[in-house]
Amino acid sequence: LSILLSLLVPAQAARSPDSAGIITPLGLSYRNSRGLHTSLCRRLRFSSSRDQLSSIKVAELALSLIPYSGLRLNVDVDLGITPTPSTTEVMRLSILAELHMEMNPEGNLEMVTSTCKPSLEMQSTEEMERSTPRFSFHHLGNRGKEETEAQAFLGRKLCLEISKFLYFPNEQLVSMTVPLPVTPSCQVQYLPLAAPMFSEQGVVISLQTTFQVAGMAIPLPVSPVPFSIPELPSSSPFHFVLAFSEHFYTSLFFALEMAGAFNMTLPSPLTTAAMAQNITQMGSLFQEDQAVTLQAVFRSTPRVVLEEDKAALKLFLTVHVGAGSSAFQSFLSVNADMSAGLLLSASERRMTISAAVIEDVELSLAASDVGPVPAALLEELFLPTIREEVPAQINAVLSEGVFLPHVTNFIYVDVNVTIHKDYVLVPCNLQLQVGSG
Ligand SMILES: *[C@@H]1O[C@H](CO)[C@@H](O)[C@H](O)[C@H]1NC(C)=O
Ligand SMILES: *[C@@H]1O[C@H](CO)[C@@H](O)[C@H](O)[C@H]1NC(C)=O
Ligand SMILES: *[C@@H]1O[C@H](CO)[C@@H](O)[C@H](O)[C@H]1NC(C)=O
Repeated sequence: LSILLSLLVPAQAARSPDSAGIITPLGLSYRNSRGLHTSLCRRLRFSSSRDQLSSIKVAELALSLIPYSGLRLNVDVDLGITPTPSTTEVMRLSILAELHMEMNPEGNLEMVTSTCKPSLEMQSTEEMERSTPRFSFHHLGNRGKEETEAQAFLGRKLCLEISKFLYFPNEQLVSMTVPLPVTPSCQVQYLPLAAPMFSEQGVVISLQTTFQVAGMAIPLPVSPVPFSIPELPSSSPFHFVLAFSEHFYTSLFFALEMAGAFNMTLPSPLTTAAMAQNITQMGSLFQEDQAVTLQAVFRSTPRVVLEEDKAALKLFLTVHVGAGSSAFQSFLSVNADMSAGLLLSASERRMTISAAVIEDVELSLAASDVGPVPAALLEELFLPTIREEVPAQINAVLSEGVFLPHVTNFIYVDVNVTIHKDYVLVPCNLQLQVGSG
């Protein structure tokens, strides 16, 4: 059995990205990295309660990209120390830490420190005010050896706290993978495929989207072409860029179809008597006049086609035409193949997807209990209803929008959605949401 399983695993592991998140160099230097700032202060205060600290201030916090390696974190902390009740000294602790991201066994991304170098500089309050050059901690020759060792100890300890303070970004990274609702029975989940890449573009996180219907992961159609993350302009004015493949959108519609979201009942103004004016056999089938309803189901999976500046949704429906107040009874089935423009926009944490007007409809008779019906008549009877109701009902399903891959404490602002051949780019800025869950 274990041999069998080991043979199965590689097949399941054939995963490829369908979307990506790219933190740009600008996003890394985002001044509003207040989350990091606050959590670092909290950690430092906590760790240093024993060390006669009277004040603690993070003077500088900078995160920078080292292409093909990782990130560098520079932190300068000014520590006010009162060794005796009458003296106060300010010590600047500079920390230089190299960070990189790994994927842990649970499949979550995790930031870890590879090296951390603390260095301490000492100055008295008086000197601080005159802002004279600082003494290096290593050259405090006139100080007692004992005190120097105590400070080195503090440096090491604070360096340890730096690695602990990565808990905040790591918690955020975990929040990226939670399942998010699309409709009451369908959820989307964005899973990182591997450790991120650190390129000149920024930190590139490739994602694979999965969908759950009624709590079960559904197998998605296989993409005919693997998605490669598009090159971004070298100096993006945005913090973050999301990229979605054409296949991502097709998968979304596939999942919604599996969830039954597109089994639509289309109200029609027709009655059996009105239809009998054009279709004589209707008269013998329905003695009494009855309301006619249309039920649309997807004949095959909808497809999304992305072109430069243009997205289209291709729908392949079968519309069952029936009557019957208690149980729907179909007497006519019409295949309806159509294309609608797809409008995309995004804000905060969601992408809004909506179908515009239906273009290029092709109706053909699929089955009939009332004899042949010419195409011109099918169009006269059903086209107005299909044109109006199909986009309206699709848009009702998608009305809440689809969650973008995101981390809990941030929202996307200044979002600019651009459609390209085979992919969609969503450049945006990040904004920390204070007090959000
Ligand atoms: C959608 O409707 C078709 C035809 O009526 C039915 O076979 C199918 O089970 C329905 N799907 C869902 C998910 O309800
Ligand atoms: C259907 O019947 C109506 C009313 O008799 C008529 O005006 C219309 O031209 C007919 N349509 C076709 C396609 O025959
Ligand atoms: C947003 O996208 C449009 C093209 O769709 C572009 O013209 C515009 O400059 C972009 N805005 C920014 C701020 O980059």
